Amino acid sequence: MSAQDLLDRLRVHGAIPRHVAIIMDGNGRWARERMLPRPVGHRNGMKAVREVVEGAIEAGVEVLSLFAFSQENWQRPPVEISALMSLLEEYIQKEADELEAQGVRVRVLGDVARLVPTARAAVERVVGQTAHNTKLTLNLFISYGSRAELTRAARRIAEEVAAGTLRPDEVDEQAFAARLYTHDCPDPDLLIRTSGEKRISNFLLWQVAYTELVISPVLWPDFGRRHLYEAILEYQSRDRRFGRAPA
Ligand code: FPP
Repeated sequence: MSAQDLLDRLRVHGAIPRHVAIIMDGNGRWARERMLPRPVGHRNGMKAVREVVEGAIEAGVEVLSLFAFSQENWQRPPVEISALMSLLEEYIQKEADELEAQGVRVRVLGDVARLVPTARAAVERVVGQTAHNTKLTLNLFISYGSRAELTRAARRIAEEVAAGTLRPDEVDEQAFAARLYTHDCPDPDLLIRTSGEKRISNFLLWQVAYTELVISPVLWPDFGRRHLYEAILEYQSRDRRFGRAPA
């Protein structure tokens, strides 16, 4: 079935997930299968990002969250880190105008203070340039780890309680969620992980409490809009109960 047929089908099949999150995995294996250096896999992964952003817009997804660089990725060899950083910078610089034209609001979530100054500047520029857009919110998680995000929220709450601006009995789930990077986003409805791995890998631990997981065997550089649509069709066939009894 073509991507267009899949799109037509999912439009009538059920509700479109408001928020889709993706763990983009398998760039390294994609490169190894072709006896190419890992950064070539990442470069081809960048093309898949472009494709999936377009696919998400066409399907009417409101928020797309991509796990682009984890805190643990800082432990990769320096050449790979610098290749990934330059790719991110390149993506942001090359795509900024296109994203703007497509109505995409770009946000970068994570410990951006660790980025090299040029990457940080590129990030700040595209975030500012696209802040007014409303078609799709693209959350790029860079230098992100969910445990660090949760710890940061807990520290903020402790500081506010210590300063007397928050009472301990005001610390509820809402107050906690309000101190996460994702405070103004709905929780993901659908989380896709590519390359067949069945792990969450420290991504959005709080936010995925009731998210539907779809594991795709496809390596990220080969992931296209048709795979996104297949994942959405699978999501639409799930019975989401949020812990309640079946209707
Ligand atoms: C996982 O593959 C992927 C990453 C660590 C980085 C993801 C980055 C991109 C897709 C490129 C640029 C991103 C944007 C947003 C423009 P892996 O290296 O862990 O693959 P492996 O598990 O096969 O080794």
